[in-house]
Amino acid sequence: MCGIVGYTGSHEASPILLAGLRRLEYRGYDSAGVATLDGPRLVLRKKAGRVRMLEESLKEEPAAGVCGISHTRWATHGPATDRNAHPHVGGDGAVAVVHNGVIENHAALRRDLEASGVAFLSQTDTEVIAHLLARELGDGDDLFDAVQRVLPRLEGTYGLAAVSPRCPGQVVGARLGSPLVVGLGEGEHLLASDPAAIAPHTARVAFLQDGEVVRLTPRDFEIRHRERGSITPRVDRLDWSPDLAELGDHAHYMLKEIREQPDTVRDACRGRLRRGEGTAAFGGLNMTARQLRRVRRVVFAACGTSWHAALVGEYLIERLANLPVEVEYAGEFRYRNAPLDDRTLVFVLSQSGETADTLGALREAKRRGHPTLAVCNVVGSTIAREADGGIYLHAGPEVGVASTKAFSAQVAVLTLLALHLGRLRQLSFPDGLAVVEALDRVPELLNQVLATEPRIVEAAERLAKARSVLYLGRDLHYPIALEGALKLKEISYIHAEGYPTAEMKHGPLALIDPETPSVFVAPRGALHAKTLSNVEEVRARLGPVIAVGTEGDADLARLADVFLPIPDAPEVVQPLLAVVPLQLLAYHVARIKGCDIDKPRNLAKSVTVE
Ligand code: F6R
Repeated sequence: MCGIVGYTGSHEASPILLAGLRRLEYRGYDSAGVATLDGPRLVLRKKAGRVRMLEESLKEEPAAGVCGISHTRWATHGPATDRNAHPHVGGDGAVAVVHNGVIENHAALRRDLEASGVAFLSQTDTEVIAHLLARELGDGDDLFDAVQRVLPRLEGTYGLAAVSPRCPGQVVGARLGSPLVVGLGEGEHLLASDPAAIAPHTARVAFLQDGEVVRLTPRDFEIRHRERGSITPRVDRLDWSPDLAELGDHAHYMLKEIREQPDTVRDACRGRLRRGEGTAAFGGLNMTARQLRRVRRVVFAACGTSWHAALVGEYLIERLANLPVEVEYAGEFRYRNAPLDDRTLVFVLSQSGETADTLGALREAKRRGHPTLAVCNVVGSTIAREADGGIYLHAGPEVGVASTKAFSAQVAVLTLLALHLGRLRQLSFPDGLAVVEALDRVPELLNQVLATEPRIVEAAERLAKARSVLYLGRDLHYPIALEGALKLKEISYIHAEGYPTAEMKHGPLALIDPETPSVFVAPRGALHAKTLSNVEEVRARLGPVIAVGTEGDADLARLADVFLPIPDAPEVVQPLLAVVPLQLLAYHVARIKGCDIDKPRNLAKSVTVE
C-alpha cells in the first residue's frame, strides 16, 4: 500500500528518496512522486506508473535540494494519474504533503475550501490537507504548528509528511492509524512509513504513536502528542539487516521466499521446542501456565493468508488441546457483536503487523477488556506493540506481495502453540514428544519438497491454460486448499476456489468438465480413502486432476494427471509440507503467463486502509 519517505540532511535528497521508494515498491502502488526544497522553491515531480518512470523524469528535470518528501500511491480516491499522484501542493507552492490512509470527511472539507475560492488539481482526499495547511501557514512560518492546527479537522486515518520552503531543512510528520517511523542518522534524519526504507541508513529508529506529530531537522527531532504535549521518544534498534531484503540470484522475491522456507520453519521453532518435556515454550506471551489453563475458548482474527494460517491453527488446537477455536475475518469481527466471555483469549495474526482490519479487531477486543495476543512478523509494528503479548515469526522481511514464508512461519508457530496448550491439558508426554520430533524434521522434508520443482512446472503448464480451478482438501488440508487457491488467483489472475473436499458434491461438482482442473490436497491420513472416492468422482466427469499426495501413494498417483509428492510425515505437520507445491504451482503458472509476480495488479503488501 502507499509508502512515505522523507529526508533532511546534507546529501542531495532526491536519490535518497528514490532509493527509499524502491525499497517500498513491494508494498504495491501505482504512481510515485517527490517534492524537494531548493532554496526558496518547492520542486515537484510526480508520475503515474513505476518508480523507474519517476526516476527517468528526474534525469530530465532534476529536483535539487537536501530536504524533501516522497510517496508511492495506491489509488483510493481517483485513478492512478500524474495529477492524483502525491505530493499535493497548497498555496501556490507554499507547502507539499504526502499522505497514507483515508480522510473520511474530505468531501465536506473540499466543499468549504472550494467555496472560499481554492482550486483543486486532483481527485484525491489528500489534497484538502495541502490546502488547509497552506491556509494555516498564512504569512507565518511554522509548519510544525500549522500541521498541529490542521489535524483536528481531519477525520479518518493518516500517516503524513509535509515540507514548506518557508521552513528550510524541516520535514514534519503526523500519525493517526497509519504507521510512521523516524530514522536517526548522523547529521540527517529520515521519516518513513516502513523501516525497510530507513534500514540502509541507520538501525536507530523511533516509532511514532497515534496522535503524535514530529519535526525533523538535520540535527534533531522533536515529537509532540496532540493531548500530552512534548514527548521523550523511545529509540529502538532495527533487528534486521537491509541485505535480507535483497533479491540475490532469484528471479523473483516470491521464489526466493518460497525457497527460504526450510530456514523459516527452523527459525520459527528455534529455542521454542522443549524435547525433555515434550512441549513448546514462548518468551513473549506474558501469560502464566495457570492463566493459559483457564482459557476456555480461543478466537483468532486475521485477513487473507494469515486467516488461512489461523484456520490451520483451529484444526491443530482442537486436535491437540481439545479447546474450542473460532477463526474470524478481522474486518467482520471488529464491527460484530461477537459474544466473548471472560475466558476467551483473542489472538490476532498479521505478517506486517499493520493491517488496518486486524488492528481494528485487536483494538475492539482490548476495548472490551480481553487479553489480546498477536502473532506478527514485523518487529515493532503497531499490532506487535499494542497487543498484551505475542509471538514473533522471525521470518525476516517478506517482500513478495503474495505471502509464502510468513504463512509457513505462522503455521509452525501455531503448531507450537497447539502443542503448548495441549500439554497444559490432556496431551500426554509421548504424544507431545511425537509433535516435537515431527516439527524438528520439517526443514529437511521441506528441502525434499523443493527438489520436486520440475514436476510442479509440468503441472503449471497444464494449469496455465485454465480459466478456473478448484482446490480441494479435507481436515487440516482444507485451509491449505484455500491458500493454494488464493495464491493462484492473486498472482496469475486465474479464477480459483478452495473447498472442503466433502462439499464438492453439494454444488461445485457442477463446474467439473475437461477444461476445469481440480487440485486435490490429499496426503495420506485417516480420511484418505474418502478423498480417493472424491477424486474418482471428478475423473468420472472427465475433470483433469492434479494431486498433492504422500510419496509412494500409488492409488492417488494412478488417478491423477499430475501427481506432486510430499514426503511421508505425521498429519500435524503435513500442512507445512503440502502448501509448498501449491505456492510453486501458482508461481510457475504466473511466470508462464508473464504476470508481474512480485507486484500483482491491484494488490498491496500491507493493507493499511479498511
Ligand atoms: C496474500 C496476502 C494477503 C495478506 C493479508 C493480511 O498472499 O499476502 O492476503 O495475508 O493482506 O496481511 P497481514 O498478514 O500483513 O496482516
